[in-house]
Amino acid sequence: MPAPLIAIYPGSFDPLTNGHLDLIARGSLLVGQLIVAVLENTQKQPLFPVAERVEMLKQSTTSFTNVEVDSFQGLLVDYAAHRQAGVILRGIRAISDYEAELQMALLNRRMRPGIETIFLMASEQHSFLSSRMVKEIATLGGDVSSFVPAAVWKRLHVKIGR
Ligand code: PNS
Repeated sequence: MPAPLIAIYPGSFDPLTNGHLDLIARGSLLVGQLIVAVLENTQKQPLFPVAERVEMLKQSTTSFTNVEVDSFQGLLVDYAAHRQAGVILRGIRAISDYEAELQMALLNRRMRPGIETIFLMASEQHSFLSSRMVKEIATLGGDVSSFVPAAVWKRLHVKIGR
C-alpha cells in the first residue's frame, strides 16, 4: 500500500479568505497530511506579519485533524522536500490564474521532478475572492464578513481601526 500523501498548500495568506479555507477543506480530504505553509516574503509589504497570518490560519483550521500550519523561507520545492511532501496543492479561480500557476508548476517540477503540483478549481461561490480585494474593501469601509473566517474578520477590524 502506498504511503499516505503529504501535501503542501503554500501561499501568502495575507489574509486567509473563505476561498483558501474551502481549498484547505477539500484538499485535506484527498491527502494524509496537508501542510498549509505561509511564505515569509521579504519583498512584499504585507498587511499582517507572518506570525499573525499563521495564528489566524491555526484558529480557522482547528476542526481539520490532518492539517498543520507552518511558515517557510526560500524555495517552495526545497521546503516541500524538507517536509517530505510529494505534492504541492494550489487553487485556480479563473483562467487569469492559469498562466502564472502553469509557470510555477513547470519551474518547480524542473527543479524537483519528484514533486507534483495538483490544482483544485475554486468553488464557484469563492471564485471572485482574493486577499487583495478583501484588504481593499475592508480598508475602504466595506463589509467583508462573508469573505473571510471570523478570526480574520476580527483582526482586520483591529488592524484598520474600525
Ligand atoms: O498566495 P500567493 O502569493 O499566490 O503564493 C505564491 C507562492 C508562495 C506559492 C510562491 O510565491 C512561492 O512558491 N514562493 C516561494 C519562492 C519560490 O519557490 N519561488 C519559485 C517559484 S517557481
